[in-house]
Amino acid sequence: MDMQEIPTTDEIRDFVRPHQVHRRAYADPEVFKLEMERIFGRMWIYLAHESQVKEPGAFFRTRLAQYEVLVTRHTDGEIYVLHNRCPHRGARMCMVDKGKSQLLNCPYHAWSFRPDGTLSTVPHKQSYPESFDMADPINHMQRVKHVQTYRGFIFATLNEDPAPLLEQLGEMTDIIDNLNDRAPEGEVELSESSFTLEYKGNWKLHLENAADIFHPTFVHSSSVGAARRAPQNASKIDSDQTRVMLEANGFGVQQWEGIQLKGLANGHTYMSNFYSKGVMVDSDEDPVMAEYKQQLVAAYGKEKTIETLSVDRFNNIIYPNMVLNAQHQQMRITIPLSHDRTLVRVQCFRLKGAPDAMYHRAVRFLSTLASPASMIFSDDVEMLERVQVGLDRDDSPWVDFSRGLDIDQTDDTGAVSGVASEMPMRVQFKAWVEMMTREAA
Ligand code: FES
Ligand SMILES: [Fe+2]
Repeated sequence: MDMQEIPTTDEIRDFVRPHQVHRRAYADPEVFKLEMERIFGRMWIYLAHESQVKEPGAFFRTRLAQYEVLVTRHTDGEIYVLHNRCPHRGARMCMVDKGKSQLLNCPYHAWSFRPDGTLSTVPHKQSYPESFDMADPINHMQRVKHVQTYRGFIFATLNEDPAPLLEQLGEMTDIIDNLNDRAPEGEVELSESSFTLEYKGNWKLHLENAADIFHPTFVHSSSVGAARRAPQNASKIDSDQTRVMLEANGFGVQQWEGIQLKGLANGHTYMSNFYSKGVMVDSDEDPVMAEYKQQLVAAYGKEKTIETLSVDRFNNIIYPNMVLNAQHQQMRITIPLSHDRTLVRVQCFRLKGAPDAMYHRAVRFLSTLASPASMIFSDDVEMLERVQVGLDRDDSPWVDFSRGLDIDQTDDTGAVSGVASEMPMRVQFKAWVEMMTREAA
């Protein structure tokens, strides 16, 4: 069949083999439409953090499946998710990414709405028929019915009858807990400073790359080389943070085999023992860390502090759209635009109650990793785009992800462990097939 036809459920199942994926999973606009319907339209999707809509009237614009939505805070403190569309004649309402306003005004005929989506005023009300009912939900901005928050993280789903959010998140709540537990006040705030970048490639490529431990040695070799040539501790301004971080991407066989990969139900994956050096790692010598640890001990006691700081997990992928790094106070959000275009929002957290220097280190980490001047993520994006170019060609249908297939270990809970493995991609695609074919099952 050609790529114009909607694939059947059986065909979708056939796209994923134990060791291969069909290129149509990335290159077919019809597959993308089904993903918007069955994955981004049916699962719980992370949209925003509560700290982005702190005050009544605050709003944040983002996407849920194929729709643009506004996450808002109503006057009573409640959070709403509204379709960014005027019920009058359908105009797109809000064009800015965030802001604060007691009323959302449509630019076309100036209907105005409260942050919960209800209609507040219409100009020249006397010219509307008597039957026109301001209180009728048909005249309100349409709400997304199911919105839930987990420790500050706002999720929503278009599913009329969704499974519980906690069931979908599974064990990954522990990394959201860990991030909050790293704050002496038990809460985090998303920093104002964030980057959004767009690449010409499928959304899944970013999640796969975030779990791909083999590429750094090759893709990031130029910055690894520069970091190796630079003298140690030459940079006073960042306590050598940037150099150590760049150098960490230079793996040998030993490191490849030393990184533990974990795959869970619903496509969630993470790796341990990745960035094991540098100023963001627990240490007793560093004065900033020492002050920070004292604050944690005062808040939670010694045992809990040791337990919290010992969680060494990198690129926690909460499928299908979050990459969370608790230790580095970072998050990346994948926002699919089309089968070959993706937005990535790169953000950084402030640990409430922690020394400012901890935040500054997190910002530096973020900038080194993924700013427009980054020597790391720009290389990744080059690869994601080249892969998409290859997948868009029809001369060969299959791509391989067999590395580690025979050496992965599965325990009785179904969790998979691996080293030197492409297991995370297999785990992600297992969830992908389940979600894409669920209705039929
Ligand atoms: S389209 Fe919004 S007020 Fe007319
Ligand atoms: Fe990379």
